Amino acid sequence: MRTAVLAIATAVTACAALAHEGVKNPAVMARMDGMKEIQKHLTTLGKMAKGESVFDAKTARASFAATAGESSRVVSLFQLPKTDPKSEASQDIWENWAEFNALAGDMERVATDLAGQVATIEDLRPALAALGETCKACHAKYREER
Ligand code: HEC
Repeated sequence: MRTAVLAIATAVTACAALAHEGVKNPAVMARMDGMKEIQKHLTTLGKMAKGESVFDAKTARASFAATAGESSRVVSLFQLPKTDPKSEASQDIWENWAEFNALAGDMERVATDLAGQVATIEDLRPALAALGETCKACHAKYREER
């Protein structure tokens, strides 16, 4: 269990590396920035889960709540089928808009639920794994990592 959670924490924190550089389309930049904000909260939570920072229930809950807040912006950030040579967004997003929408909704719902539930470090690890699953579910279909 612990290993699986750490793998997810690592996977979600490792992927950011400068995908961003040289993006010219401002709409693409904005949606990448939104994802990076989400990533920041996951990094805060991942560090606590790995014991690299001290667990604090208030900070953990705030990070899940902030993730939910950012999640609620995903649909509008991706609404228009904008692209950029540096974008990792699959064109399938706009072919399957309803599903993309639902996956963004899953992330928001899970993050909102967890913001009200996490009280101990024992809660945090499975919570982070559950949230990480919602990232993976969408990235696997709609993000083409370069
Ligand atoms: C509903 C779909 C969806 C969900 C859910 C989702 N993402 Fe993304 N994410 C994307 C897409 C699509 C891109 C590629 C955007 C682009 O390059 O234009 C992306 C890109 C990213 C990037 C790279 C940003 C950059 O600077 O290029 C990070 C980091 C990221 N996501 C983190 C996360 C994390 C962490 C979660 C879960 C808490 C998550 N995402 C959930 C669709 C999603």
